[in-house]
Parts: sequence; structure tokens; C-alpha cells
Amino acid sequence: MDMIGIFDSGVGGLSVFREIRKLLPEEKYIYFSDNAYCPYGEKSREQITERARKITDFMLSKGADIIVVACNTATAAAIKTLREEYSQPNSHVRELTDGKMDRVSFIGMEPAVKPAAAITKTGTIGVLATAGTLKADKYRDTKGRHAEDVTVVEHIGKGFVELVESGNTTGPKAESTVMESIEPLLDAGADTIVLGCTHYPFLKETIEKVASQLTPERHIFIIDPAPAVAKHLIDIMTAENIIKREGFSLSLHASGDDSVLVKMSENL
Ligand code: DGL
Repeated sequence: MDMIGIFDSGVGGLSVFREIRKLLPEEKYIYFSDNAYCPYGEKSREQITERARKITDFMLSKGADIIVVACNTATAAAIKTLREEYSQPNSHVRELTDGKMDRVSFIGMEPAVKPAAAITKTGTIGVLATAGTLKADKYRDTKGRHAEDVTVVEHIGKGFVELVESGNTTGPKAESTVMESIEPLLDAGADTIVLGCTHYPFLKETIEKVASQLTPERHIFIIDPAPAVAKHLIDIMTAENIIKREGFSLSLHASGDDSVLVKMSENL
């Protein structure tokens, strides 16, 4: 069975899955939430890479023929290594896939600094992401290339992942947590906020509500890179000739308790 494999430290990657499914509604999917090891944000590169290898092996053995790293932190920490280890003809991949494939492609997340820099009117963009993403070379490079003419202010979405993993994305607790991290961005003059972690789109409604309370006079653009990642996936799958259109299915897996994953996947 040929499937699109998608993984994240938790349910965040579902925000990417829902965009992919809009464009590829007749594919088979396998989703892995690594919630026993969540959050990835404060973990070392080595720890995240080790988890990413294990999850990749699992998904290949279940029939995945392409892997979406639906996590900014894991992309920044591990995608280069994954590509080196799995993208060349490889006997390990052949063993895991019963000889069907000998290499696999990885699609990762890209912090949407470029589109944000193109639409800001105040000239200041805010980036919300995990500590791991913000300190990674990948993010620094993207910022260096695409944000030369704008001011970039960054903030960790402190407590955001925990809110989403517990299914609490609206209400007073979510609002006060969101306020703490977006207030400094808005105070610095940002009118555009990049969601640099795949969990954060599930807080979009709360972010919009809090932003409109804090700066009612300023329209705030919120940018989620997931639609662009979904388009990129189609391009790669088209080039590899692996789009099947044989009917939708979604197989869910978690390293910890899967109740929030199951619930959220039913309400995307
Ligand atoms: N969803 C993840 C990301 O895009 C990771 C969140 C975490 O586990 O810290 O960065």
C-alpha cells in the first residue's frame, strides 16, 4: 500500500495534513504523532534526529513512499541528515519496503518569512516558533535571504504546544497564554505574524482575537506556511509519478496516548 507519511512531535502536523488533503483528497495517509516525546522545541538536534529516523523507518515499513516532516523544529534539526541517509539508493530502505523502493524523498517546513516580508505594511514582521527553530541555521539562512528590507521580531510561542496538545485552543487560558507571546511582537510594530510551528495554526482564532484587542487599529496578517508546503508536495509527487488517486484513507499512530489525535483528526 502506497501512502503519504506525515509526522510531527504531536497533533501540530494535522494543520499540514488538512492542507495536503484539500489538494490530494484521494490519497492514503499515515500520520505519526510523537507525543510521548513532545515537545521537540527544547530537545537537542541529536535527540530529534534519532526520533525522526525511528518514525521514518516505521512509516516506510507500513507503506509510506514519501515523508512530510510536518514540524518546523524537526525540519530544522533533522531533514538534512534524513535526506543524506535515505535519499540515495539504500539497502536499508529496500529492506523496510520489501524491495519496492530504495530511496525516499522528504518534504519539510519552511518558516514563511518571504511572503511575510512581501505583505507587511509597517515593515515589521513577527515570527512565532519554538526555541529549536529560532536558533537553527535553516531559519537564520531564510531570514538572511528574504528579510533584508524588513525588521524581524521573534518570540517563542511559550505554552502554545501544550495548549494544542491538550485540546484547549480557545478560552481565557488560551487567550492569556497567547497574549504573553504576541504582545511583544505587536508592541514592536508588527502587522504580520508568521506561524513558524505547525501547532500554532490551531490557535489562529485566539491569536486573531487577542491581536484585535491589543491593536484594534491595525490589521494583522497571519501566515501559515502549510498551503505552500502542500503545493510543493504535489510538485514532488508529480515529478516522482507517485500520485495514486485510489481513495482516501488515514491511518493514525502515536507514541503516547492517541485520544486528542483521534478527536482532532475528525474535526479538521
Ligand atoms: N509542531 C512543531 C513545530 O512545527 C514542534 C512543536 C514542539 O514539539 O515543540 O515546530
